[in-house]
Amino acid sequence: MLEDVFKAVDDYIKERVGFEDDILVKVRESSRFSTMPDANISPNQGKFLQILAKACNSSNILEIGTLVGYSTIWLARALQEGGKLITIESEEINYHLACKNIKEANFHGVVTIKKGKALDILPKIFENQTFAFDFIFIDADKPPYLEYLKWAIKMARKGSIIVLDNVIRNAQILEPNSTDPKVIGVKRLNDYLKNCKEADFTILQMVGEKEYDGMAIGIVK
Ligand code: DHB
Ligand code: MG
Repeated sequence: MLEDVFKAVDDYIKERVGFEDDILVKVRESSRFSTMPDANISPNQGKFLQILAKACNSSNILEIGTLVGYSTIWLARALQEGGKLITIESEEINYHLACKNIKEANFHGVVTIKKGKALDILPKIFENQTFAFDFIFIDADKPPYLEYLKWAIKMARKGSIIVLDNVIRNAQILEPNSTDPKVIGVKRLNDYLKNCKEADFTILQMVGEKEYDGMAIGIVK
């Protein structure tokens, strides 16, 4: 019942300020061929991330977890003129869908999709890095979330914004004895935030068309 209201209000917001053009609709729909058809961010969440990324005047964005490139396109549209986005995807099927989608969205040359495990690819990006990322979005497999955050911090600068998706997981984070590796992964991340020296975080609970969840949002010190 309450879920129906959340969905209806999400639609209400979307009709006013969460407009998806034909490309975004097509890309979102292509995720039914992916390994995780329900894991896209929602249109309103896409707009939210886009506004945050624009607010940091982002010239360099890093995304961990491309899926089919839906969030990637929302974020790439926030880039400053000449800006670049690097995104990492480990699943072969998703990578191929994302490559096609990014090309269709006219971001070929702006967005680079790296295929492989983020924990293998992040050190390589770091080694060759000549600039800091202004905005980093983490929306990948949950068990290594804390490791992803630590890499993100290394690759950021003072004032960079880091966002992590799915840190509430239908309130399963309240269960002290959860054995779900995804819940354990985000709980480990959330607990780290309590004494995080390198960045100042908040966590936003989120309702809407997706399951009850939340995003952690931090500014690097
Ligand atoms: C899952 C992952 C996501 O990134 C998401 O937005 C929703 C669910 C999952 O792994 O269950
Ligand atoms: Mg997610």
